[in-house]
Amino acid sequence: MTSFWQDRRVVVTGGAGFLGRVVTARLRAAGADVMVPRSRDYDLTVPDVAEALLAETQPSHVVHLAARVGGIGYNQAEPAPLYLSNLLMGTYMIEAARMAPSVEKTVLLGTVCSYPKFTPVPFREESLWDGYPEETNAPYGIAKKAHLIHAQVNAQQYGQRFAYLIPTNLYGPGDKFHPSVSHVIPARIKRCVEAKERGEEKMDVWGTGRASREYLYVDDAAEAIVLAAEHLESTEPVNLGTNREVTIRETVELIARMVGYDGELVWDPTKPDGQPRRRVDPGRAEDLFGWRARMPFEDGLLNTIDWYLTNRAEAEREP
Ligand SMILES: NC(=O)c1ccc[n+]([C@@H]2O[C@H](COP(=O)([O-])OP(=O)(O)OC[C@H]3O[C@@H](n4cnc5c(N)ncnc54)[C@H](OP(=O)(O)O)[C@@H]3O)[C@@H](O)[C@H]2O)c1
Repeated sequence: MTSFWQDRRVVVTGGAGFLGRVVTARLRAAGADVMVPRSRDYDLTVPDVAEALLAETQPSHVVHLAARVGGIGYNQAEPAPLYLSNLLMGTYMIEAARMAPSVEKTVLLGTVCSYPKFTPVPFREESLWDGYPEETNAPYGIAKKAHLIHAQVNAQQYGQRFAYLIPTNLYGPGDKFHPSVSHVIPARIKRCVEAKERGEEKMDVWGTGRASREYLYVDDAAEAIVLAAEHLESTEPVNLGTNREVTIRETVELIARMVGYDGELVWDPTKPDGQPRRRVDPGRAEDLFGWRARMPFEDGLLNTIDWYLTNRAEAEREP
């Protein structure tokens, strides 16, 4: 870690969220003065709020993590607010950062959900615009992808500096386990633990199990964000991933084994699989700012299960 962050002020929107807490801790440890606006005080979907926030805080860097995020069920149930709130938050934040004299650079978080449904694996950044995303991901994924264009045209016309990162599915301690918003890993950990406690002989699982995902440990993602904020000088998007593809079936079986649930897994193919395959090429991140994911999946999963078992009330809190 360099002295770059000493005494710099950083606004981390969404800094109290799953990823945001780890990013904030990392920046503070590096010496930055970090301000975390909460949505109850600064609703970033409301016009002028982002501008007021930056006028009050005068940061040199903005890390925009605020978003509405959930798993496949949430994406299906709430497509309209997912699209609009994510689009508005990013749009207002990018524009406010462009106009704020103190802001040197803005870090934006995209999502692997922006990639087309059918994309050559591993996904390369050049393929981002080659097709429509998987239907359940599209409202969220397209809203986030629009921020890339916004930042690129602002860079072209006004010289705004930004970094745009595309992480794969995040997991780790601090994740959200409430069923209304949980992703596959926390959702399955919670179900396996409950099924074991209740002595259930069978457990239903959505989909065929054949779809694949790539999981990125939250600390690895946070490290990439802080490095990119300091070093990345490209107007092109940059993938963040591990290069390891795991099927949903392997994921659930591994979790069941780690949790000690030995009942039968009953797959329900009438429920959606989501995107058929996911694995990104993380080479650009290594080339441009020397980042590579470090946490082995099995170790990260054990850490996540341990954290859940010791923090169940906090983990399952309704958002
Ligand atoms: N989780 C993943 O698997 C994943 C994968 C790829 C990309 N990402 C991206 O990574 C970022 C962080 O995700 P996360 O999983 O950490 O999300 P999270 O835990 O849900 O945190 C999101 C934060 O956004 C804030 N927020 C929501 N609506 C807001 C509003 N109207 N105004 C201001 N703030 C608002 C919330 O702040 P309060 O707590 O103050 O309400 C919340 O803490 C997001 O941009 C997401 O798109 C996540």
